[in-house]
Amino acid sequence: MDPSAGGGNASEGEEPPLTEKRIDWPAEAERIEGRLELLGGISESDGGLDRPPFTRSLRRAMEETSRWMEEAGLLPAVDSFGNLLGRAPQEGRKPALLIGSHLDTVPNGGRFDGALGILLGIAAAEILLPRARELPFAVDVLAFQEEEGARFRSGCLGSRAFLGLLESRDWALTDSRGLSLQEARDSFATDGWPRVEPYSREGIFGYLEAHIEQGPQLEALGLPLGLVAGIVGQERLLFSFHGEGGHAGCVPMASRRDALGAAAEFAIFLEEMARQQPGAVATVGELHCRPGAVNVIPKQVDLSVDLRHPKDEVLDRLSHRLQERAREIGKRRKIQVSSRRTDRLPAIGSDRGWRERLASTVGAIQGKAPQLWSGAGHDAGILGRFAPMVMLFLRCRRGISHDPAEFVSPPDIACALQAMVGFVESFLP
Ligand code: GLV
Ligand code: MN
Ligand code: MN
Repeated sequence: MDPSAGGGNASEGEEPPLTEKRIDWPAEAERIEGRLELLGGISESDGGLDRPPFTRSLRRAMEETSRWMEEAGLLPAVDSFGNLLGRAPQEGRKPALLIGSHLDTVPNGGRFDGALGILLGIAAAEILLPRARELPFAVDVLAFQEEEGARFRSGCLGSRAFLGLLESRDWALTDSRGLSLQEARDSFATDGWPRVEPYSREGIFGYLEAHIEQGPQLEALGLPLGLVAGIVGQERLLFSFHGEGGHAGCVPMASRRDALGAAAEFAIFLEEMARQQPGAVATVGELHCRPGAVNVIPKQVDLSVDLRHPKDEVLDRLSHRLQERAREIGKRRKIQVSSRRTDRLPAIGSDRGWRERLASTVGAIQGKAPQLWSGAGHDAGILGRFAPMVMLFLRCRRGISHDPAEFVSPPDIACALQAMVGFVESFLP
């Protein structure tokens, strides 16, 4: 299956699958690229792509995506959280194979993270629609919001809501301006779309997600596609260090209780701890220093921690060590330390049988089907708790993601689409 040839690789005399005979894969990839370009211009602010959940830009992105869903023959609808669904038309509903990803981005993000998986899903659903009756499931496409967790510091909230997993403490999460998730959701207008009832567990056949790799491994292997063996577990915490403010010129060093000094020591410990633990990554991504003036000793520092590891027991251990060390630093420096966990997502493996199916279509396209762990969280990690889940990674230029430099080439997008269609076709009787 050479995508650039626009045809199939069936040997002579053998009937290629219908979908292969009539698809111009490079043209499909160009269409997806054009849509990515358009979505990449829908941002909350100028100068970099920033599409937080429950904002006007997110709504505009939903409107465009909804239009493409309709063009593909899908029926757009929203759920009570504000996730967009493109549902396959069908009499007497079969369980759904959900293909999805997310429409929200991190601040100053890239245009492929999330959006690419949704657009690949729409293209795959359109190609597969003529075979809908023969498939044992309906192919529905999902565009989640607040996967990144950049606004409420808790990831995959849209997919958790889709499965009815949000608890009252999740709805009470607040953004940096103090607005709660509940308030943000309630003020988000979804007029114009029909409301879809939550899917029951029996109504979900499985979940497929394609995503930019966000790392350098496929590029190093010289391959467009990889399979996700599993998604690492992650924990997010907020630490507050409370010291004593004072005049930067007059308080002697020996008597200071500088909150930033304690926070800095803590951040260095966190980095060292993760370096010494194979497979671990740890990041302080937010840091607020108050009152934040050049001539005032910092009185309070709040910082976020994002901690990840493929094994939950290691994650627990690291998290415990962090909290212990924060207490120890606080005691020694006479700084009050408090912490609170804002998120915990357990590690999850993809479905072995589905991975083998996808490996055979990927292998037919590029000869090999490497398996990688995902260091990023994905909606697939939530859906995979209740139904078979499989993920496809696309090669990422220089491994860069969560940055405007993010890039996936159109030929790689063509390969991914072909792999996804091949995967779905493998369920044909
Ligand atoms: C999402 O991209 C995450 O893993 O933080
Ligand atoms: Mn993503
Ligand atoms: Mn992301």
